[in-house]
Amino acid sequence: MSASPLIARTVPTLRRAIDNLRKRKATIALVPTMGALHDGHVSLVRLAKRRATRVVVSIFVNPTQFAPTEDFGAYPRTWKADIARLVAEEVDIVWHPGVAAMYPEGFATRIVPEGPALAGLEDRFRPHFFGGVATVVGKLFTQCRPDVAIFGEKDFQQLRVVMQMARDLDLGVKVIGSRTVRERDGLAMSSRNVYLSPEERQTATVLYRAMKESAARIRAGDSIAPAMGGGAEMIKAAGLALDYYEVRHAETLAPVTSRKDGPLRILVAARLGTTRLIDNIAV
Ligand code: PAF
Repeated sequence: MSASPLIARTVPTLRRAIDNLRKRKATIALVPTMGALHDGHVSLVRLAKRRATRVVVSIFVNPTQFAPTEDFGAYPRTWKADIARLVAEEVDIVWHPGVAAMYPEGFATRIVPEGPALAGLEDRFRPHFFGGVATVVGKLFTQCRPDVAIFGEKDFQQLRVVMQMARDLDLGVKVIGSRTVRERDGLAMSSRNVYLSPEERQTATVLYRAMKESAARIRAGDSIAPAMGGGAEMIKAAGLALDYYEVRHAETLAPVTSRKDGPLRILVAARLGTTRLIDNIAV
């Protein structure tokens, strides 16, 4: 049986635990999450274990990255199952603050990211999102003082925003992206997949198929416009409402016009019923 992680719910408790690890010359990897853990999160934890001697997983459903119309209240909260997974993975610390510990009365400071946060992708549809993410991740980094932090590539724009922020603010944390984990039929694992009905769950697989087809066409020398147009049509024909379906420079997220414009990434966001899905792949 594995040892249980220390569960810290206040900043002083967390600080003491981190100080103790530091005194013992540990290196620390942080895996920030909002809970509702699935195999994708487990793969982040496993990568964290390879990159540091101790692993901290944060579980905090961050209210500031949800608009009032979004699913903050409905976001799945599966604490017992999450802890069971983290015990099995032999995580050292679970940082699980309440909202009042993270944003105490009178809290009045916000990080406003630019660059990749204004790429015209997620930010166009969720203008509040990256400010909320950058602020909470900035806090998580100063609270946990990790050497490395692991983020899933599934939220690709988020990963680029956090990398930029760590560099711009000299946060001293190496931000590492981890490959998206997919179901057998290609659907990217996401805590929000539980919102899908069985029929929608089947339909959702079109996102990965469309991106693979567009990527294959671009690699084979097709121009970007028809290759991307074909993928977008597939998604719409399956009944999803597209927010965006774009190919961008994989590092800057700047628009591209040709395959030669650099390493490319296809990014998609689409709504299926009441569920909003995002995904991306390398070309
Ligand atoms: O990707 C997520 O789960 C969240 O956006 C994060 C990085 C934990 C910040 O709340």
